[in-house]
Amino acid sequence: MSDSVKLTYQNKTFEFPIVEGSENEKGIDIKTLRAQTGLITFDPGFKNTGSCNSGITFLNGEEGILRYRGYSIEELCEKASFIEVAFLLIFGELPTEKELALFNNEIREDSLVDEDLKSILKSFPKAAHPMGVLSSLTSGLIAFNPNSVDVESEAEMREAIIMLIAKFPILASWTHRKVKGLPLNYANTALSYVENVAHMMFKLPHQDFKPSPVLVGALNKLLILHADHEQNCSTSTVRIVGSSQAGLFASVSAGVSALWGPLHGGANQAVIEMLESIQADGGDTKKYMAKAKDKNDPFRLMGFGHRVYKNFDPRARIIKKAADEVLQELGINDPVLEIAKSLEQEALRDPYFIDRKLYPNVDFYSGIIYRALGIPTEMFTVMFALGRLPGWIAQWLEMRKNNEPIGRPRQIYTGKQNRSI
Ligand code: SDX
Repeated sequence: MSDSVKLTYQNKTFEFPIVEGSENEKGIDIKTLRAQTGLITFDPGFKNTGSCNSGITFLNGEEGILRYRGYSIEELCEKASFIEVAFLLIFGELPTEKELALFNNEIREDSLVDEDLKSILKSFPKAAHPMGVLSSLTSGLIAFNPNSVDVESEAEMREAIIMLIAKFPILASWTHRKVKGLPLNYANTALSYVENVAHMMFKLPHQDFKPSPVLVGALNKLLILHADHEQNCSTSTVRIVGSSQAGLFASVSAGVSALWGPLHGGANQAVIEMLESIQADGGDTKKYMAKAKDKNDPFRLMGFGHRVYKNFDPRARIIKKAADEVLQELGINDPVLEIAKSLEQEALRDPYFIDRKLYPNVDFYSGIIYRALGIPTEMFTVMFALGRLPGWIAQWLEMRKNNEPIGRPRQIYTGKQNRSI
């Protein structure tokens, strides 16, 4: 006998079934709520609302657990490459050696971008934020791939997936080269996917460039840790845009824009800017802790807090350890790392943060590694998007294959009642 809940309203009792997931998560199935009761639910920010069933990523915010298709991120960071994790998220299983070789070859063969896309890039001023450029270039890919992908066609779907995975890092690197006024690079098919991210961003025309193992190892880990995170803001954006049967490229372009916001993926850039301002202010962390707690001050401690993690963010733990390792291996002593660590220590002892269960999230330490690797601050969120791409693709594909209805929430109207001019 499956569980249910009863709702009493205006002396009538209504019953709604409980749905349960494979990790014992439970939800009230309210698909018939309005038809039965005339009521809707009200949940700004969807803090208590599940939008879908999904078999891709499981996270437990209380216990700090994050798994992709059942594998823990800790194990994947140690044993898998980013492109293997991308395959896992999209196709559901880790690739065999043969499947991986084919996947890599298809990506290499598709690692060119129509030269006309460069005219979109040229139309931006150098000062344009790379995330805005990336969103536009991703949209631009639609022009070269106009069909709204037929999700029932395995071949069409695979072609679109390969095209996006192959071309997205090229476009991402071009946003950096544009800011620096450097010639645009293409992938080098002798290199791995992650090596090519570094190659395309940093290879200068007059110098040889061999990505360092420290850079490649750290990037591999960072991209894996950002690869998916269930129904976060940008992934929900990708799903809801795709639910209108807009194409994969258009949906991912919208996801890039959603990720840009400083409350979401843009936080990694905001964290470094915050740490640098604290450093410029003499390292006065107590002043900024007070600002973060002051309701009259819009300042928030960037990189702290999370909608789901009400304990530690497991990704932050891995990235914090990697930050120490990378800075040690590169012989860098970055004062903002010390400021970050003292902020974390103070927050972990402060009742305001403890009561609200505010802990460092994925963005708190990632910028410190990116900075150590020579990635400019304005590119941090682009790196987040590079990692999140396979998650967006996997979630979009799942939504379309489940033939989910178009996303269209209701509202409580609070405006003027009927009136005449
Ligand atoms: C990402 O969802 C995902 O999975 C996202 C992500 C992913 O992988 O896709 O994990 C990536 O976006 C990580 C989050 C990056 N953002 C930041 O670091 C920005 C700073 N953090 C916050 O703005 C905030 O914590 C959010 C946006 C992350 C979560 O906000 P919620 O869940 O809507 O919580 P809230 O804003 O309602 O805050 C609850 C309370 C409030 O105080 P009270 O009104 O209860 O007194 O906590 C306070 C908030 O003022 N609060 C903070 C704070 N975050 C929350 N106070 C100071 N500093 C902060 N950072």
